Amino acid sequence: MRKPIIAGNWKMNKTPAEAAQLVTDLIPLVKDAACDVVVCTPAVCFAAVSEAIKGTNIKLGAQNVHFEAKGAFTGELSADMLKASGCEYVIIGHSERRQYFGETDKTVNLRTVAAVKAGLKAIVCVGEMKDEREAGYTDILVTYQTQMALHGLTAEELDNVVVAYEPVWAIGTGLTATDEQANETIGVIRKAIAAQFGEEAAAKIRIQYGGSMKGRNVKGLMAQPEIDGGLIGGASLKAADFAQVVNF
Ligand code: 13P
Repeated sequence: MRKPIIAGNWKMNKTPAEAAQLVTDLIPLVKDAACDVVVCTPAVCFAAVSEAIKGTNIKLGAQNVHFEAKGAFTGELSADMLKASGCEYVIIGHSERRQYFGETDKTVNLRTVAAVKAGLKAIVCVGEMKDEREAGYTDILVTYQTQMALHGLTAEELDNVVVAYEPVWAIGTGLTATDEQANETIGVIRKAIAAQFGEEAAAKIRIQYGGSMKGRNVKGLMAQPEIDGGLIGGASLKAADFAQVVNF
């Protein structure tokens, strides 16, 4: 019942010319995908990518959004700016933003609410660090992060939210959560959403796994009942690698 969604998070990679080349290579490889396909590119690539993907099944996403509509926020981009640049999706609260750029559960919440109310689809990231998992706090932490991020939305607005469970220790490390670990924690996230918005909303919302997901482990992860897709870093930077994930 939930359509899978595979999204590439390019992070700080690709110039506009490189981005256009990558999506041009990607288009024929993913044209028959059974899932939603999204590329979240650097903002400087929006123009090139939105032009290249016109009329295809690939959607464009951003990697962050500010919660105010406009004003004195040097370096930031508003939801309306993203929409006007061809973005349909936006990643919010990625662990790299939490680790390096002072993102907190509060600002993740503000950004998520602003993005959804402005008509963007939010990909909201949650996940524990290695020491938090080892200390046994994974379930409490992802429950809190999820409920805090989504606070203030309605159950209907959740139709425009995807949650990405990204264990921080699995990002860019080559370590993946086992299929069962990922499934179990995503189940915890779904329960957290059920407690906050009801069973129906929880059954509908798509929850991705992210963290060293690639061609050789995508099948096992996607076979798990709770896992509805992937947020892909490294393996989204080459058309053939990303297509392998998309065509799982
Ligand atoms: P990797 O796939 O490179 O581990 O990155 C995952 C990620 O952070 C996606 O947002």
